[in-house]
Amino acid sequence: MPKITFLPMNRTVEANPGETILDAGLRADIPIQHACGGYCACTTCHVIVKAGGAALSEIEECEEERLERANGLTLHSRLACQARVRDDVTIEVVNLED
Ligand code: FES
Repeated sequence: MPKITFLPMNRTVEANPGETILDAGLRADIPIQHACGGYCACTTCHVIVKAGGAALSEIEECEEERLERANGLTLHSRLACQARVRDDVTIEVVNLED
């Protein structure tokens, strides 16, 4: 099973192959903001890939367009609700729930 390590809390959780970072994180009570409910309609689930980016699904058009509006956009930014996990990855959550 792929493992996702979430920063800054430094917690590693198992994901089902093909599961989104958001779904795997929420299942493990990682407090990732997700204002639109995971429909690629906001940017609150912004995460930054720290290692293992090749393990994620390709960025599709909707995600690319949304990300352009994300605060603190980096070359390694993804939307947690769109990026699907195929292998181990380490990501930093940009917006934590209160
Ligand atoms: S939760 Fe809104 S785009 Fe991911």
